[in-house]
Amino acid sequence: MFVFRKVEGYALRMKDDKDVLKLIQIQKEIDSRKRDALANYNKDFVHEKQMAFHRSQKRNRWVFGGNRSGKTECGAVECVWLARGIHPFRQNRDNVFGWVVSLSQQVQRDVAQAKVLKYLAPRYIEDIVMLEGKKGSPEYGVIDYIVVKNAFGGTSKIGFKSCDQGREKFQGASLDFVWFDEEPPKDIYDECRMRVFDRKGDIFGTMTPLKGLTWVYDEIELNTSENPEVWCEYMEWNDNPYLDKGEIKAMESTVSKQDQLSRRFGKFSTAEGLVYPEFDQNVHVIEPFDIPKEWQCDISIDPGLTNISTRWTLTETYTSWQSISRRGSPLTDTSQKSSRLQTASAGKGTRKDGFAHSSTARRIKGLSLRKRASQSCFAKKVFWSIPT
Ligand SMILES: Nc1ncnc2c1ncn2[C@@H]1O[C@H](COP(=O)(O)OP(=O)(O)OP(=O)(O)O)[C@@H](O)[C@H]1O
Ligand SMILES: [Mg+2]
Repeated sequence: MFVFRKVEGYALRMKDDKDVLKLIQIQKEIDSRKRDALANYNKDFVHEKQMAFHRSQKRNRWVFGGNRSGKTECGAVECVWLARGIHPFRQNRDNVFGWVVSLSQQVQRDVAQAKVLKYLAPRYIEDIVMLEGKKGSPEYGVIDYIVVKNAFGGTSKIGFKSCDQGREKFQGASLDFVWFDEEPPKDIYDECRMRVFDRKGDIFGTMTPLKGLTWVYDEIELNTSENPEVWCEYMEWNDNPYLDKGEIKAMESTVSKQDQLSRRFGKFSTAEGLVYPEFDQNVHVIEPFDIPKEWQCDISIDPGLTNISTRWTLTETYTSWQSISRRGSPLTDTSQKSSRLQTASAGKGTRKDGFAHSSTARRIKGLSLRKRASQSCFAKKVFWSIPT
């Protein structure tokens, strides 16, 4: 009897231990899922533009976004979903092979690679092959490729490439996807398109358009070749629910309107610098006044196909005056242009040789004339703003 009780107690303890072990395991799994960035992606706060990108079924998708708008984050998640074979909005495949393309190896290490490692939990990594550094701490080195456990039972491969290696290093492979984090050179983009050709793979890009109207503008934004697989969207600071609203306000007030076009809104813009970077509203703008007729010296006109740009140069005794007038609204016919110029000239009391008189002259007579405040009397500048 005594022996039986002892054995029974032992068996019960064993059972308790097993249960406790099971509970510990469950708790560990819950904790690791809580820490799993992928499981928590867009869970509490949803970045709608990121989700629109993930949902799009097109095969050539681009996110044009301002800085910190959340571009790289969604590019990295897209890669991990595809490689793991768990994409919530796409037909998943086993043994996926894709590339992550950065501008340089340093940028790869610090940006795209870091985000992929953030969203790819270690338990799904079969192997890591490094170009530089130790595979025990891949975040500090440059990864060549990661072998990923695919949900279908096979393994996928995420390779890392950088544009500074040159187009030749992009040859040969057959791929399921290519992700460009920031704008690649055209030759590398073209090469990558060939890489996904036979597998009917995907191209996607996430970038801030800082280089002006490049090939991406024509090929993706304008989609001049009318490729039905091209898709793009814009992301700005306010689209990113993970950015602090107060910080956005503070940044808005310090970044110029021109820079905000690309750096905030992710828009393509032609401006590569201001014509008069020294222009300061507080220094160069004064109250309107009538210009004495004798000041006129010269008018130069750049007719343009749609917009006119006109510049009046005026001279006062011992004082040189310059003015700039830039027209915003498009004028389509020559008579319109002529009339506008003549009107603007009349408003300044300047000569109108070669232009017909117009009744609209009176309307703009009070043209706002702005003069630089009290600078050297030998180099005063005057700016007009012409109502458009
Ligand atoms: N879905 C998200 N979940 C958690 N954090 C996010 C998410 N989207 C964006 N963020 C946060 O917003 C910030 C900017 O994200 P991200 O690095 O993707 O921006 P970016 O547009 O690529 O910026 P950059 O112009 O510097 O390349 C980061 O701090 C990131 O962690
Ligand atoms: Mg980024």
